[in-house]
Amino acid sequence: MSADLEAIVSAALTAFSEAGNLEEFKNARLAHAGDKSPIALANRELASLAASEKSERGKVINEAKSRIAQGAAAREALLVEERDLRVLVEEKVDVTLPLDRRSPGGIHPLTSLREDISDLFIGMGYEVAEGPEIEAEWLNFDALNIPADHPARTMQDTFFIEPISAGLVLRTHTSPVQIRTMLERTPPIYVICPGRTFRSDELDATHTPVFNQVEGLVIDRGITMANLKGTLDHFATAMFGEGILTRLRPSFFPFTEPSAEVDIRCFVCRGENTIDADSCRTCRGEGWIEWGGCGMVNPKVLQACGVDQNEYSGFAFGMGLERTLMFRHGITDMRDIVEGDIRFTQHYGAGR
Ligand code: DAH
Repeated sequence: MSADLEAIVSAALTAFSEAGNLEEFKNARLAHAGDKSPIALANRELASLAASEKSERGKVINEAKSRIAQGAAAREALLVEERDLRVLVEEKVDVTLPLDRRSPGGIHPLTSLREDISDLFIGMGYEVAEGPEIEAEWLNFDALNIPADHPARTMQDTFFIEPISAGLVLRTHTSPVQIRTMLERTPPIYVICPGRTFRSDELDATHTPVFNQVEGLVIDRGITMANLKGTLDHFATAMFGEGILTRLRPSFFPFTEPSAEVDIRCFVCRGENTIDADSCRTCRGEGWIEWGGCGMVNPKVLQACGVDQNEYSGFAFGMGLERTLMFRHGITDMRDIVEGDIRFTQHYGAGR
C-alpha cells in the first residue's frame, strides 16, 4: 500500500483508539471515515486517473477503506460494551428497597367544595368576584348599612388591624365583595364571591376564627324574591341532593330588606324527630337547620353603591362553606376541617 494511504489508515486507527467514549468516537469517525475524510477524498480522486491506473489504485483504496471500517467497528463495539457496563452499575435499581409510602396528598375538601360551587354558578351565567381579606372598615360595615354602634363591629367579633385609625379589619364576611362589585361594575350583575373570612371566635366543634363563606349577588331589572328562592333551591339541590327541602325564615340583616334565614330540612331526622330538643341532636328537634342568610339588597346599599334603585333591584345571599361541608358529609366537628389531617382530606376531598 502506498505511503499516503498507510498514513491515512494509521491516522484513522489512532484517532479511533484515542476516542475515550462514544461521543468522541462519533467525531473521530466523521473525521476519518465521513464524506470529507482523507480516504473519501482519495477515493474521489480516482475519477481523474487514467483507466490503466484506476483499477490498481482502486483496489488499494478499497483495502484501506475496509481497514478503517473494521477499526471503527471494533472500537465502537468496545465503547458500547463499556458504556453498557457503566449504565448497569450507575442505574442499578434495588428492587428489594421498601417503597416510598409518602402520600402525594389531595385537594382539601373545602377547596373542592368551593370549586364545585363556583362551577355551579358559572354554569348559570355568574362570574366569580374576589376581594381582599384585609378590608376597609367602610366596605365591611358602613356601606352595608351596618352602623358604627352595631354589636358585630365590637372588638369581640372583629379583628382590627393596627393602628385602629387606619380603618382596616380582617373581613368578617364576604359581603364587602358585594359592595366592591357594585362600585366596579354596572348592572346586570350576577356574581358569586367565595372567600376566607375572620372572626375572633375560639376554635371549637362549631366555630373557627378563620372560615369560608360564599356570597351571591344579583342586580338586574325586575329581580324579585321568587328569583332568590329559585336560585337557592337549585343551589341546595346541587349541594345536598334531589328532594332537599328549603325554607326562608324571616330575619334581619342591615344590608337586605326584607331579609331571611335560609334553612334546610334536617339531614339526620328529615324533620321527623321534632318532639323536643333531645329528639334530634343535629337540629335540636327543630326539623330544620340554618344554612345561611339572604334577602333583597337594601335600597340604602344600592344607593351607597350608585345603583339606580328605580331601575334595578337585586338579591344577595351568604353561606358558610364549613357548615355546608359538615351538612353534606355529616361531619360533626369543625376542627376536623381545620386541622389538615391528610386522612380527612383524602376521605372527603378530591375524588369524593
Ligand atoms: N354576611 C352575612 C353574615 O356573615 C351573611 C349574609 C346574610 C350574606 C344575608 C348575605 C345576605 O348576602 O343577604 O352573617
